Amino acid sequence: MSSFLERLRRSCEARHIPLISEETQLFLQQLLVVKQPKEVLEIGTAVGYSSIVIANTLEAWGGKIVSFEIGYPAYLEALKNIKEAKVRNILLYPFDITALYLEKFFAEKFDFVFIDAQKSQYGDYMQKIQPYLCPETTILLDDVIKYQNKLDWLYSFLEKNQINYEIFSTEPWDGVMLIE
Ligand SMILES: C[S@@+](CC[C@H](N)C(=O)[O-])C[C@H]1O[C@@H](n2cnc3c(N)ncnc32)[C@H](O)[C@@H]1O
Repeated sequence: MSSFLERLRRSCEARHIPLISEETQLFLQQLLVVKQPKEVLEIGTAVGYSSIVIANTLEAWGGKIVSFEIGYPAYLEALKNIKEAKVRNILLYPFDITALYLEKFFAEKFDFVFIDAQKSQYGDYMQKIQPYLCPETTILLDDVIKYQNKLDWLYSFLEKNQINYEIFSTEPWDGVMLIE
């Protein structure tokens, strides 16, 4: 698996396809191991790199991941990559999560959410997923330092709903937001 992921990372970097940094990947994997979630939601699949990382980690305790990607070509490549990686606990949807009636997609509640899509929509995602969270859900949002200027709506949503968060600087110029 690690050689497949290394190849995929190099290929994404060569094609300027955004993907989680190695530092965020490590943070995410360690957090998953601690929390051991069964049902994970990801917003922002791109070509499936982070979905494969998450699915591969969840396999140890029988967890699974549902991931949404708005771009159809990226979704198709993600399907191909997931098949090549031979991971079976991923369900991908080629949709804009902000434009969906989510009750048609979700029977279960999620105990872990990874958000890594359009930064200016982070507040919308947070609002949209609220009915599908349990009290103990962990939410991790990527790139919150680098794109701080796009997160006004996220911060007003958090303030309005009195949601506490912590920011971890995983690399010199960027980091993640953790909500538990
Ligand atoms: C930073 S990339 C995701 C990288 C991926 N998480 C990884 O590490 O491999 C962000 C992705 O979010 C997708 N995206 C943006 N807005 C979206 C939306 N409203 N619903 C679903 N996907 C969205 C973009 O098309 C893009 O592929």
